Amino acid sequence: MSLDRKIYGKTPDGDSVFLFTLTNANKLEAKITNYGGILVSLMVPDREGKLEDIVLGFDTFAEYLKKNRYFGAIVGRYCNRIANGKFSIDGVEYSCSKNEGENQLHGGVRGFDKVVWDVNEISGSQGDGLVLTYLSKNGEEGYPGNLSVSVTYLLTNQNELRIEYSAKTDQTTVLNLTQHSYFNLSGERLEDVRGCDLMLNADHFTPVNESLIPTGEIRTVRGTVMDFTHSVKIAENAEKGDSSLLSQGGYDHNWVLNNPDGKLILAARTIEPSSGRGMEVHTTEPGLQFYTGNFLDGSLIGKGGKAYQKHAGYCFETQHFPDSPNHSNFPTTLLKPDDSYTQSTIFRFFAN
Ligand code: BGC
Repeated sequence: MSLDRKIYGKTPDGDSVFLFTLTNANKLEAKITNYGGILVSLMVPDREGKLEDIVLGFDTFAEYLKKNRYFGAIVGRYCNRIANGKFSIDGVEYSCSKNEGENQLHGGVRGFDKVVWDVNEISGSQGDGLVLTYLSKNGEEGYPGNLSVSVTYLLTNQNELRIEYSAKTDQTTVLNLTQHSYFNLSGERLEDVRGCDLMLNADHFTPVNESLIPTGEIRTVRGTVMDFTHSVKIAENAEKGDSSLLSQGGYDHNWVLNNPDGKLILAARTIEPSSGRGMEVHTTEPGLQFYTGNFLDGSLIGKGGKAYQKHAGYCFETQHFPDSPNHSNFPTTLLKPDDSYTQSTIFRFFAN
């Protein structure tokens, strides 16, 4: 186990940013920066033991500043979308910054993915890690309340990347945090992720309109292209039924996890056939946005000078449902001063 820290670069505001390298007893290696809490690289063995980087991103800090597409970042205050950038709390209407047409996506113009977090290194019997903290001031991106957020990344010797979130506010606000890594378990070959097998532990999903805003309905996955209750190849499933449910020819939806009590449950399991690399996602959250990189179109040049084509990565964004502040039938995302926000999410890696 080891933990190393070096200077990664400077933001335009002159803040120094660090790059940390965590290595576990089995040589898994995670590189994480305190800019946006970005997971910059994650080296994971295939069935032959070959370590390869399985997250999309960039070779330099300058590119993360310029080409930021939430790659690997911590997203907040509100991950996913808020319709019309508006919500009400106790009869008071709030407008948050709009950065996707009329809507807000992933926390607005300068969300948690674009701020510098304070950082502390931790070391324990389970593995090494980082504690990132950030104070989001009252009014930031239009949200009420001073919000203190803490995100702990821990790389364990059980080949898990554990992410523990917590937050407190001094005024009632809304909060929805996630981690936005684009995974490609084939490593450098960047195989189309739709060739992977996938199981999602969810009997329902939240249908969306053309702007990817939930209609409010909670619909069964049975008999639809959304049914991943049994492991199936993603591309085959997408062809099985009504493709109008898809977005840009792919998945970009919130599944309602079978997790009514907020326990730590297995939410997703995926295997990449050629490398044998697999990943499980465990979470305490009620939802998971499964996104197959439909908006990647080859114009973005990533690590090693490679163009990221459509479906070059998939995201497993454990979260509350999109636009929850405007849907009283969705689990609440309100955070009151007397409450504490907590979330645990684990990405567990294996090969077979
Ligand atoms: C959203 C996509 C969006 C992507 C940006 C995902 O969480 O659901 O619609 O394009 O984030 O990285």
